[in-house]
Amino acid sequence: MDNNHQTGSAGWRSPSNIALVKYWGKYGKQLPQNPSISFTLSQAFTETIVRYESLGYEQDKPLVDFYFEGKPNEAFKMRIEDFLKTNINEFSKLKELHLSIESRNSFPHSSGIASSASSMSALALCLCSIENQMTETVSNQDEFLKRASHLSRLASGSACRSVYPKVAAWGSSSSIPNSDNLFAVSLTNIHPVFDDFHDDILIVSKEEKSVSSSIGHSLMNGNIYAESRYRQAEDHTQQIYSALQNGDLRSLGKIIEDEALTLHALMMCSDPSFILMKPNTLEMISRIRRFRKNSELPVYFTLDAGPNIHLLYPDSCKNDIEGFIERDLLSLCEDGNIIKDQVGSGPIEINSFSL
Ligand code: DP6
Repeated sequence: MDNNHQTGSAGWRSPSNIALVKYWGKYGKQLPQNPSISFTLSQAFTETIVRYESLGYEQDKPLVDFYFEGKPNEAFKMRIEDFLKTNINEFSKLKELHLSIESRNSFPHSSGIASSASSMSALALCLCSIENQMTETVSNQDEFLKRASHLSRLASGSACRSVYPKVAAWGSSSSIPNSDNLFAVSLTNIHPVFDDFHDDILIVSKEEKSVSSSIGHSLMNGNIYAESRYRQAEDHTQQIYSALQNGDLRSLGKIIEDEALTLHALMMCSDPSFILMKPNTLEMISRIRRFRKNSELPVYFTLDAGPNIHLLYPDSCKNDIEGFIERDLLSLCEDGNIIKDQVGSGPIEINSFSL
């Protein structure tokens, strides 16, 4: 290979994830104030293919062309350039590259689903593959994913958990061996009930969020409850991890609902304050709790930093929950929109788009 003029490409499909213990608050260079744990999803994913050409000379940042779903997209291009420029020293060959990036999501852009976890992890995985190609390195799978998780984190914190199958944890916690603030780790000794756990995303509103995650995280700095929140997240991490190992759905369910409501409570008492739940979010929560009480089925909700409900339940309840959604929840979703997702097996390498 002519080392002054290398060309090639890399492609990855990477999924979104849903946090059970929430990352909310960061410091320094994208370091989390508390540990978080998430399910990696399967149906909500991004596919990214990066073509690269080495220009043979260095610049302060790589040249980037960015196409989202076939069309040039300036806003995404700027976010990616900013990430690459800030982290230029992570990957020395980057300075010489012209990158042509094309990305597609399996879910509609304005569906109320945050795409940064899937899109930034897909991009980071492509960059790691390119790095290996250019330096002719064959890293083992564990090292490769650790590096991809590290780079994903620098682009968007929650993205670092998406590179692993099923369940991942990010942030150092006394209850998780090898956990680290710099990258996520895979949690492997998980009870089989979670292998095909469901996450139905009930779209209450497709509107773009009124507060970005970055602003939300920064508001934790002045929040008077911050320190007790970080302690609570550490306790929840330990409790959720043990519920995940034992298949204890009731303990898991109680904590994930606590986590969702705490996240929104923190936003409501920050300065300025934000209320991201909508009336239909609250109505759904009360219907879910009523249904759970009457049916005694292990079905629980969580929320991201937005109004949409994630309904979590084991596969054994699938038929009952389908009926419950049709009867009681569908009419509260915007345009009857639901994205049915499940715990998934993590990113895969691709040569062409499937979307
Ligand atoms: C509420 O990962 O989007 O979804 O690091 O600023 O990109 P940045 O934030 P981001 O925050 C996600 C917050 C959350 C909880 C979670 O996924 O843990």
